[in-house]
Amino acid sequence: MKKIVIASIAALTVTSSLMAGVNAAACTGCHGADWSKKAMNKSHVVSEMTHADIEAALLAYKAGTRNTAGMGSLMKGQVAKYSEADLKAFAQTIGK
Ligand code: HEC
Repeated sequence: MKKIVIASIAALTVTSSLMAGVNAAACTGCHGADWSKKAMNKSHVVSEMTHADIEAALLAYKAGTRNTAGMGSLMKGQVAKYSEADLKAFAQTIGK
């Protein structure tokens, strides 16, 4: 019984992290747990940005067209592994 419960929890964890697409835990160290920090004192406060602005920023970082001379290249590294669809979906879950 105990083994079944543990296996189910493990399966649920895998499923939800796949569904989430973007792993927010990898972002919040810099941006704050509630997205209220200026990352490395360079970014806007993401929780105050609109979904559309966040989406545009993430897609531009991925495309390598946003602030590459500055910290844009750092953000490119953060989002490179995600699909555009994942980034668009994630942008709807943070900000306002
Ligand atoms: C190592 C620290 C760090 C990590 C980790 C990080 N970021 Fe950033 N982020 C920054 C910095 C610095 C900037 C400002 C980049 C610039 O100058 O354009 C930024 C900018 C942004 C912006 C645009 C904010 C603005 O100023 O317009 C968004 C949205 C964002 N990050 C989301 C994310 C997401 C989503 C993740 C996780 C997948 C993430 N970040 C991971 C440091 C980080």
